[in-house]
Amino acid sequence: MNLINRPRRNRKSKAVRDAVAETCLRASSLIQPLFVAEKTKDIESLFDQKKLSLKDLRTFCETKLKNSKIMGVLLFASIDESLKNTQASEALNEKGLLPEAVRIVKEVCPHLEVLTDVALDPFSSDGHDGLVVGGEVLNDQTVEILKKMALVHAKAGADWVAPSDMMDGRVSEIRAHLDEHGFENVNILSYTAKYASAFYGPFRSALDSTPKFDDKKTYQMDFRNKTEALRELSEDLLEGADMVMVKPALSYLDVIAKFKENSDVPVAAYNVSGEYAMVKLAAKQGLIDGEAVQNEILTSILRAGADVILTYSALEVEQLLGARP
Ligand code: PBG
Repeated sequence: MNLINRPRRNRKSKAVRDAVAETCLRASSLIQPLFVAEKTKDIESLFDQKKLSLKDLRTFCETKLKNSKIMGVLLFASIDESLKNTQASEALNEKGLLPEAVRIVKEVCPHLEVLTDVALDPFSSDGHDGLVVGGEVLNDQTVEILKKMALVHAKAGADWVAPSDMMDGRVSEIRAHLDEHGFENVNILSYTAKYASAFYGPFRSALDSTPKFDDKKTYQMDFRNKTEALRELSEDLLEGADMVMVKPALSYLDVIAKFKENSDVPVAAYNVSGEYAMVKLAAKQGLIDGEAVQNEILTSILRAGADVILTYSALEVEQLLGARP
């Protein structure tokens, strides 16, 4: 054949392939979600993940996080059912599990960014992200609680607060409330386009936070929509979000790409529990090479346009990246 162009020439050796690689997965773009609880316990639905007691969280920081170069950790509290109520009042406890966990990570690993999830579902006896009255998830009343919750986290030392509730107008209210109290340097990572997704199953069973009635479709987005995500994006940018997130990630690469085109702040994507569990389970069954598939998935999320990825595999991937020749 008389070919001028032979694209294979640029793939002929590892050295060439590495030199021309367009997307590079690095630990510094990854955030590891961590769960804290009264007692340490394996999370069955999430394979290698555990809920950590505060004591074990400290040890984890000393042994696993101290030398880590990931961007940071996103903290979730798994509280006892007896502490949950309709007002989600434990969410505002300054001495609660979450603020204590923030203090521990900041003390042992000051080089890491500490992010906290801001939503009521892990604290609410209704299992909804907002305040429920008469079967309805109220918007404005929920935002009143969320902004106080964000302040509790900021006071404990959180570097970022991440509202995951999808109430309207919460970013600007949280921003104003943090600023009023002198926390203008605390960033907001907004869950901007968070879809009502069946991929959150393993996370909800980890926190026993499945909604007690209905679903989350009156506040989380309809997965049939993309233009609507741009509306959420414009709002969050106007309201002062420092980073905007798409969630889940893998089935929403088109939305991530749209965000990258239209956002002047960095874009994050959440590789959620169901995405992680599918890979782990298939690997366990010997159907796929789990490490290779996870690497490919995370790279595809970056290639779509994400700057930062929240993934349960962050620390594991960091180890593998370090180990690779
Ligand atoms: C809480 C919250 C959820 C997740 C992150 N924050 C669950 C939900 O909205 O029901 C899901 C994370 C995951 O599945 O990994 N608002």
